[in-house]
Amino acid sequence: MTTLIINIKELLQVRETTIAKVSGAEMAILPTIKNAFLVIKDNLIADFGSMDQLPKIHPDKTIDATGKIVLPSWCDSHTHIVYAGNREQEFVDRINGLTYEEIAKRGGGILNSARKLNETSENELYDQSKVRLEEVMRLGTGALEIKSGYGLTVEGELKMLRVIKRLAQNYPITIKATFLGAHAFSSEFKENHQGYIDLIINEMLPAIAKEKLADFIDVFCETGYFTVAETQQIMEAGIKFGLKPKIHVNQFNSIGGIQVGVQQEALSVDHLEVMTINDIESLKNTTTMPVALPSCSYFLSIPYAPAREMIAAGLPIALATDYNPGSTPSGNMNFVVATACIKMKMMPEEAINAATINGAYAMGISYTHGSITIGKKANLILTQPIPSYYQLPYAFGSNLIDTVFIEGKIVT
Ligand code: NIG
Ligand code: FE
Repeated sequence: MTTLIINIKELLQVRETTIAKVSGAEMAILPTIKNAFLVIKDNLIADFGSMDQLPKIHPDKTIDATGKIVLPSWCDSHTHIVYAGNREQEFVDRINGLTYEEIAKRGGGILNSARKLNETSENELYDQSKVRLEEVMRLGTGALEIKSGYGLTVEGELKMLRVIKRLAQNYPITIKATFLGAHAFSSEFKENHQGYIDLIINEMLPAIAKEKLADFIDVFCETGYFTVAETQQIMEAGIKFGLKPKIHVNQFNSIGGIQVGVQQEALSVDHLEVMTINDIESLKNTTTMPVALPSCSYFLSIPYAPAREMIAAGLPIALATDYNPGSTPSGNMNFVVATACIKMKMMPEEAINAATINGAYAMGISYTHGSITIGKKANLILTQPIPSYYQLPYAFGSNLIDTVFIEGKIVT
């Protein structure tokens, strides 16, 4: 099946040869072709270029994109979309003055979601989660990472990871699975941290490896959750099972999570709302992608990751949603891109790079996703007619998407 898209007003994120990521000043460069065509053959990008060089082909279908922009679909490298129920009550409690941390201290937060998850059957969890997956696909996400971490028991964590595997099998979207058993300590292990870490290392990890349920390992490295030493121990164990680390750090406090992540060659360090100069220094000349989650800052009214300082230091940045029931009940990458521009002062070009090629890097898939390159997956967003791509962050509350393609197929 060949689809030809013609008269594209502007084709964004065009890379003749594959790149892994863009960093520092390069992030402001978004290569484009105006008045372009693009050919999709089956699930891949087969050709693209300027309309003056349109080859003579006989497509099965032609789409006229006059006035419309085409870009790679979003690569959302950090989500927790497999969860049970919701935490609307905590949202209202926060409106009434409680903080996210106070709610967690009184047994709410992650433990609240863990209680709900452990009471929910695997089929019911799948049904709730697929609704969110279908929603984000319609919003232009073409690849995403999903974490466990609301089980906190062997059965609960395996249940979540099996649901992620089923989603990956049943939908065309590329899904990467991350084991986040080290998300919180349940009340059973409140006073026995090493007991829970032993459970992660000796029971959860071998079972996960046996069923090949995860690609990555994550730890919530934060005051009141996992210490730097505990984070290191868990990451090292995960690495032994072939899981590369991608970790939660610096959401509320800078306690050394970035340094230990870099030392363990983490693929990404995520959140970064609280960053010291030393944290930024530690990320220089590393293979670790810093990932910012602006919708989380928005929803919790906490600081935003200091994007300008990080880019000025030559670092790359990826943007992701963090879609989860507690700190970010939204999987809208369009909102993430807009919020990065509005609140973090990222340029539209930087934000689009961060949400496409750098997001792909943060999932280890930048050789197949995240740019318009021949041979990459035909994962595309076709916008409605818009004056320029600035409209994407500028009209932050509007849905500017006309059509989403994932692996060459239209998402409905
Ligand atoms: O990335 N910070 C840790 N984990 C999630 C939130 C978890 C929750 O509140 O349910 C996050 O924000
Ligand atoms: Fe998260």
